[in-house]
Amino acid sequence: MSLRTIILAAGQGTRMRSALPKVLHPLAGRPLLAHVLDTAAALEPDGVLVVHGHGGEQVKAAFAGRPIDWVLQAEQRGTGHAVQQALPKVSAGDIVLVLCGDVPLVRPETLRPLVEAAGHHGLALLTTRVANPAGYGRIIRGIDGAVTAIVEHADASTAQRAIDEINTGLLACEAGRLGTWLGQLDTDNAQGELYLTDIVELAVADGVQVAAIEAPDPDEVMGINDKLHLATAEAVLRRRVAAELMRAGVTLADPERIDVRGRLRCGRDVRIEPDVIFEGEVELGDDVVIGPFTLVRDARIAAGTHVQSHSVIEQAEIGERCEIGPFARIRPGVEMDEGAKVGNFVEIKKSVIGPGSKVNHLSYVGDATIGAKVNVGAGTITCNYDGANKHRTVIGDGAFIGSGVELVAPVEIGAGATIGAGSTISKAAPAGELTVARARQATISGWKRPTKKA
Ligand code: UD1
Ligand code: CA
Repeated sequence: MSLRTIILAAGQGTRMRSALPKVLHPLAGRPLLAHVLDTAAALEPDGVLVVHGHGGEQVKAAFAGRPIDWVLQAEQRGTGHAVQQALPKVSAGDIVLVLCGDVPLVRPETLRPLVEAAGHHGLALLTTRVANPAGYGRIIRGIDGAVTAIVEHADASTAQRAIDEINTGLLACEAGRLGTWLGQLDTDNAQGELYLTDIVELAVADGVQVAAIEAPDPDEVMGINDKLHLATAEAVLRRRVAAELMRAGVTLADPERIDVRGRLRCGRDVRIEPDVIFEGEVELGDDVVIGPFTLVRDARIAAGTHVQSHSVIEQAEIGERCEIGPFARIRPGVEMDEGAKVGNFVEIKKSVIGPGSKVNHLSYVGDATIGAKVNVGAGTITCNYDGANKHRTVIGDGAFIGSGVELVAPVEIGAGATIGAGSTISKAAPAGELTVARARQATISGWKRPTKKA
């Protein structure tokens, strides 16, 4: 038996009130459809078909390179019609799993029994119970409890509208029979559409006992129709990720105030303060502490490093026992070696900060290679850009750069050199010597301040 997944994603998503196609709206930093694709992939299907329509080219471009068989539904004539478009690419005997591009939180564990049940029964529905079923298709059961039909909200009687068991829109079905039933659909309903849900009645008429698998958690099968739903889903996902982190031993000061937009891997005894955002791939070693209001994007932070509040770290490699922040900005291409320190209001870009070196206050370090145990004084600036090209600054081990120094690159400071405060260094400063490049201080004794003319 081979498994094919069809993801319905042709709808317009009018209620998002956005120029962006609905399935491209980000949830935890990734498009809605990406979540559904990942869930589908976890089931290891023999193929994934995505039915697209509205904003089709934009949607396709966003997933270029992924193994997707795209199917165009030029006109949105209903969910049944959408599945019909994909069916020619599926063989009879296959199990078809229908997912929705706007139902992003469903987990593979919930879908596996659905696929299995479809293998036994021919048709299996994923249902759930909700406090407010308005808008959803209702699951109709006979007196023996067997599912007999799905009735859409718009077509439902008052009595049917009282039913709280709803259709999640996700189902699994044997492809041959699905084709037969889809061929029998009509548009004789309140919305004038070909309803996928009408296959239930047709299956029952064919003597098929339709399986209904109830998703234990209605949050998992929520559909995203507007920005309110999107924010609700974001909160659900946040709780899910926070729970996973805490189960893995991470201390979260407030599990409601962490955003993981990508993948976060943590060692032992990691502590994360409130309002921290992680984006892309982030790895934190043992005993790392991330202070509040910090953003970490695509970075590796090794064991024992402390990042204090309001810091931004992006595409950087931070060694063991470093100290960063508060208010530090570590930009792409930075490597901080063991025990290095970058303090407040310091910006570092494309530079190596050697082991034990310190850039503690109000500095800009760009395109620099700083050796071991270097002290960069407050307010030091690497003048790396001449208006056309970028140039490197190289500082040898054990150098001491006084406060307020301008290093006009390309320039080299030798090992153990000392640079006097306030110097503008534009030529190599030799190792082990004191170099000062500033106007000498002079005192004019007896000088009088001008006085106002009478
Ligand atoms: C559908 C179900 C309903 C269920 C609800 C759960 C039908 C008839 N109804 O209703 O029983 O309770 O989902 O959320 O199936 N789509 C297409 N092409 C189309 C129409 C829809 O690709 O022509 C896609 C949409 O992009 C969306 C999905 O199918 O991803 C569901 O469509 P939607 O219009 O949201 O269906 P509902 O009316 O919510
Ligand atoms: Ca919907």
